[in-house]
Amino acid sequence: MIAIGSDHGGYRLKEEIKAHLTKRGLEFEDFGCFSEESCDYPEIGHAVAHAIADGKFERGILICGTGIGISISANKVPGIRAALCTDCFTAEATRLHNDANILALGGRVVGGGLALKIVDTFLDTPFSNEERHIRRIGKIEDV
Ligand code: RB5
Repeated sequence: MIAIGSDHGGYRLKEEIKAHLTKRGLEFEDFGCFSEESCDYPEIGHAVAHAIADGKFERGILICGTGIGISISANKVPGIRAALCTDCFTAEATRLHNDANILALGGRVVGGGLALKIVDTFLDTPFSNEERHIRRIGKIEDV
């Protein structure tokens, strides 16, 4: 189950991603926002991050204008590893190496076509489970 959320800057891309997830038969819950009216990205970032940290959802997708503010917000929550990706290489690498549990995207940065490829790469790539990556993630969690 995927938790998804955006601010107004990511609203349109969120709607495209939701349609794509539905087409793929993947379940999700939308944490808002629900229109292009201006809102504050930390509220959505924190809500999705807490839902994942609490174990209610396995993965999250967060979108704001740049993807920066909403990923910074989500990464304040212990246990969250939110990765801002602008290409498929980093989306794959952050799953393999960082076991990222949230994908952050910039709705004003990436077009819909690329964003959906990034989403698919992120969702379809498992964590490598390699010892060195487990050790490094442990060191992130220690702080
Ligand atoms: C909103 O205008 C914009 O600041 C926000 O979507 C995001 O890009 C912040 O990092």
